[in-house]
Amino acid sequence: MLTEIINSNDKKAMLRAAELIKDGQAVAFPTETVYGLGANAYDGAAVAKIFAAKGRPSDNPLIVHIENMNMLDDIAVGIPDDFYVLYEKFMPGPLTVILHKSKRIDDIVTAGLDTVAVRFPRHRTAAELIKKSGCPLAAPSANISAHISPTTALHVYNDLNGRIPMIIDGGECSVGIESTILDLSGDTPTILRPGAVTLDMLRKVLKEVTEIKKTVHEMPVKAPGMKYRHYSPNAELYLIENADRGMTVYDAAVSEGKKAVLIAKASNVPLYGGRNIFSIPDDSKGYAKKIYSLLRLAENDADAIVCEEPELSGSGCSVMNRLLKASIRDDKSPCKK
Ligand code: TXA
Ligand code: MG
Repeated sequence: MLTEIINSNDKKAMLRAAELIKDGQAVAFPTETVYGLGANAYDGAAVAKIFAAKGRPSDNPLIVHIENMNMLDDIAVGIPDDFYVLYEKFMPGPLTVILHKSKRIDDIVTAGLDTVAVRFPRHRTAAELIKKSGCPLAAPSANISAHISPTTALHVYNDLNGRIPMIIDGGECSVGIESTILDLSGDTPTILRPGAVTLDMLRKVLKEVTEIKKTVHEMPVKAPGMKYRHYSPNAELYLIENADRGMTVYDAAVSEGKKAVLIAKASNVPLYGGRNIFSIPDDSKGYAKKIYSLLRLAENDADAIVCEEPELSGSGCSVMNRLLKASIRDDKSPCKK
C-alpha cells in the first residue's frame, strides 16, 4: 500500500482524508498530544485495520474521539455529573474519560469491556477530520505497537509507511505525551494514566480524585494498555538524576563498546563536554513536548541512551511515568522508589 502524506491546510486533500474514513480506511491525523490512527468508531471492520496496521494486541481497547457533545449520546450511557464539570474546564483538551458504553460501539473498540474511553481533542485538524467524516474516530497513537508515540507526521511515516493509506501532516504536537486517562465508571474518579491534565488540576474541580498509587512496575491492569511494554525506544534507555551520574553511565556504556547518546537538560549541557549530546528544555512542559522526538533521534544513532530525568512538577511526573516503563532502572535514583 502506498502511504500519502497530505498537508492539514490543503482543504481538498482533507476532503479525501474524510472520504477514506467513510470508505472504512484508517488515516493518521495530528492531535495536541500525539498523532492518532483513526477509523470510523461504528465500523468494526475499519477499526480492525487499526489493530492490523499497528500490530496491536486485540485486548487493548481504543479511545473514541469526538468533535462535539452531541456525538457523546451515541457512545456512552449513564454519564455522571462529574463529566460535565470536566467538560467545562478541560474539553476540548488532553483528557480522556472512561464512561459506560452504549450498544452502538463495537466490541472490537473496547476489547469487550463494558466501558468506553472518550476524548474531545483540541487540535483543529482532528476536529475537522471528525466533522468531515461525520462519525467519531476510534484512534490509538499512530505508532507500531510498543514503540514511542509519534509527535510528527514523519514519526508516523517511519513506523507505518506501507501499512496505511494516508497521514495528515499538521506539524509538531504541542503537548507531546498522551492524554490523561480518568476513569469515571466507578465510585471515585481514578487516574489510570497521568498526562498534561494533572491530579492537582483535577482536584481543583472534582470533590474526590484518586490515582493508581503503585509503582509502575506493579501497576494493576485497569487500563489494559498499561500492562504492555510501552513507549520504548529501540535502544537501552538509562534514566539518571544528575550530570555526575550521567557521565558515569555514559562512559561505562562507551567503554563496553556501545555507541552512547546523552539527553540532557539545556542548562546542564556544558557539564558534559565532548560527549555525544542532545539538549532538551529544562521546564517540564518543554521537556514533555520534545522527549519522544529526541528518543526517536537517539535510537537511530545509539545503542545506549542516557537520559536526564524531567523536573517532577506539572507534566514532569507524567513524563516520568512513561520513561520508567521504557528504561533500565538506575537504582541510585530516588525517583524509582
Ligand atoms: O493522547 C491520546 O490519548 C492519544 C491520542 C491519539 O488521542 N491516544 C492514545 O491512545 O494514547 P492509545 O491507544 O495509545 O492509549 C489508550 C489507552 C490504552 O492504555 C488503553 O488500554 C486505555 O487507553 N483504554 C482504552 N479504553 C479503555 C477502557 N474502556 N478502560 C480502561 N482503559 C482504556
Ligand atoms: Mg499508544
